[in-house]
Amino acid sequence: MYIIGGTASKTVAEDLSKELGVPLADTISKRFPDEEFYVRIVDNISGEHVVIVQTTYPDQNIVELFLLQNAAKEAGAKEISVVIPYFGYARQDTKFKEGEPISAKALAKLIGINADKVITADPHKEYILDFFSTSAYSCSAVPELAKYLKDKNIDMVLAPDKGALKRVKQASTIIGCDFDYMEKTRIDGTTIEIKPKKLNAQNKNVAIIDDIISTGGTMAVSIQELKKHGAKNIFVACTHGLFAGDAVKKLNSAGCNEIISTDTVQSEFSKVKIAPCISPFFR
Ligand code: R5P
Repeated sequence: MYIIGGTASKTVAEDLSKELGVPLADTISKRFPDEEFYVRIVDNISGEHVVIVQTTYPDQNIVELFLLQNAAKEAGAKEISVVIPYFGYARQDTKFKEGEPISAKALAKLIGINADKVITADPHKEYILDFFSTSAYSCSAVPELAKYLKDKNIDMVLAPDKGALKRVKQASTIIGCDFDYMEKTRIDGTTIEIKPKKLNAQNKNVAIIDDIISTGGTMAVSIQELKKHGAKNIFVACTHGLFAGDAVKKLNSAGCNEIISTDTVQSEFSKVKIAPCISPFFR
């Protein structure tokens, strides 16, 4: 078996290689002057099971994944597993309006061409796994995020919407604290509304947990609501930290004490590793 790390997920690939005791394949990659990508798998992977690790965000990393899959196929790999730490485009999982694509399905179809197995972390909706023609599985970063939060004296974990309720229930069990949720309505890509609600947050350390932080709008409004209810310290934690535009500034100005994400998308806030959630699939 070989682990092959795409440029978006080098550290996750290295961690998997260490955890599983499987070598990391040597690759050479570069961008041509016109920005097209070049990659070559140097090790002889003929007849091997290869695990390609690559987040499909932002767009250029999608092409890189396709090229790595094709390179593995051309080199005669016996089996190709694809690990997608963050599956970009997963949120467009249905046709919200006539004329739209089902982006998650479109991507799944193409990834499925050269994949025998797919593993991703905390997809926005689990049913996107059915879009793959090959067997597809998901893992959850919640146990690892909760382990990190356990040292922070958390009194309550909060879901910014009902969709994240399952996550905070699980985290609250691991941390040994209360949980609650808020009711969110998305107006558009950058505007959200949170229904006022009685929250028992007075003088408490609260961690808000979500799958994704993109523009930071959801978290910022949740922080403001918690502040109104007298929360002491507020932590925001997510699996996939995209931090689009001025998201970090928004979170800080709203009064957040710490931002935590995993390394499915690498950033300065990647304090929690995703590899321990993925490695059991290869044991
Ligand atoms: C949506 O339901 C997701 O779970 C996240 O809450 C959302 O993607 C976060 O986006 P933003 O940071 O732009 O509010």
